[in-house]
Amino acid sequence: KTPIILDCDPGHDDAIALILAVAASNIDLMGVTTSAGNQMPAKTLNNAMRILTLLGQTEIPVAPGLKKPLLRKLETDVAMHGLTGLDGADLPEPDFPVYSGSAIDLLATKVKTSKDPVTIVVTGPCTNIAFFLSLHTELKYKIKEIVILGGGMGVGNKMPTTEFNMLEDPESAKIVIESGIKIVLFPLNVAFKAQLLDEDMKKMSKIKNKVSRAVVDLLNNYGIQFDQGTRPFKGIPIYDPCCISWLMNPSIFSGKECHVDIETKGEFTTGETIIDYYDLTKKNKNAFVLFDIERELFAQQIIDSLKSFSK
Ligand code: BDR
Ligand code: CA
Repeated sequence: KTPIILDCDPGHDDAIALILAVAASNIDLMGVTTSAGNQMPAKTLNNAMRILTLLGQTEIPVAPGLKKPLLRKLETDVAMHGLTGLDGADLPEPDFPVYSGSAIDLLATKVKTSKDPVTIVVTGPCTNIAFFLSLHTELKYKIKEIVILGGGMGVGNKMPTTEFNMLEDPESAKIVIESGIKIVLFPLNVAFKAQLLDEDMKKMSKIKNKVSRAVVDLLNNYGIQFDQGTRPFKGIPIYDPCCISWLMNPSIFSGKECHVDIETKGEFTTGETIIDYYDLTKKNKNAFVLFDIERELFAQQIIDSLKSFSK
């Protein structure tokens, strides 16, 4: 099993990533750390705990991260994720205590004590991981890779060429991408294609266990944003689960080793991921960037994962 720590800001798609990570038979979810992003930090923490309570996985430690991006002001995404951060589903309140330390403490403890190198998955702004890497340089060698949902090559969802997680905390993203640790990046180019269509929603509605019910409710709420959007989506793109889906079965995705820089000083482009697809700069290829997905296999993987939960 791949030991992972999920650093997330649930968030509808983060919640589905978390559910996939618990369902995956080849993943050992050692801990969850929460970031400020889609909602205020107290809410994303509570949301991660509500999801784990729903899943009956209350022994997985959940720790709160930094309360805001490294240098910038926190801008939550209420339009997308609602006032709770997980609007639409009736979720149980957490029935287990928050981890006694911070996200940084939990990351350090788990990475240090893990027998095998740990994979860190980041589905929110990179704040916690930048802080962790800066504070615990001695543990870098124990990190196998950092899998990140963020950025875009020529596309954005908050600004013309900037994606939400990267725009929130570009300085942290820069620290993480330049850390020298292997980076696996899922930009919007692939995440936009990770859509669930009506036919998938119908299959999920038929499963009828408490996890599938919650996911359908969450998606019905989150999906409205895409009906009203300007970009023509056939289905509902669910970004964050790409990272877990890839860990479950990398053959669903295809990508390329590239050099990636993060713009932190742009006039119009702060937070943009500058992906050197054609190797124009000849700089070191510091990231494996995913561009394509076999959408049907991805959707099926989610449906199968939901089926694995009991009534
Ligand atoms: C990212 O931003 C958030 O709204 C989602 O949870 C995802 O991590 C997509 O841009
Ligand atoms: Ca997220």
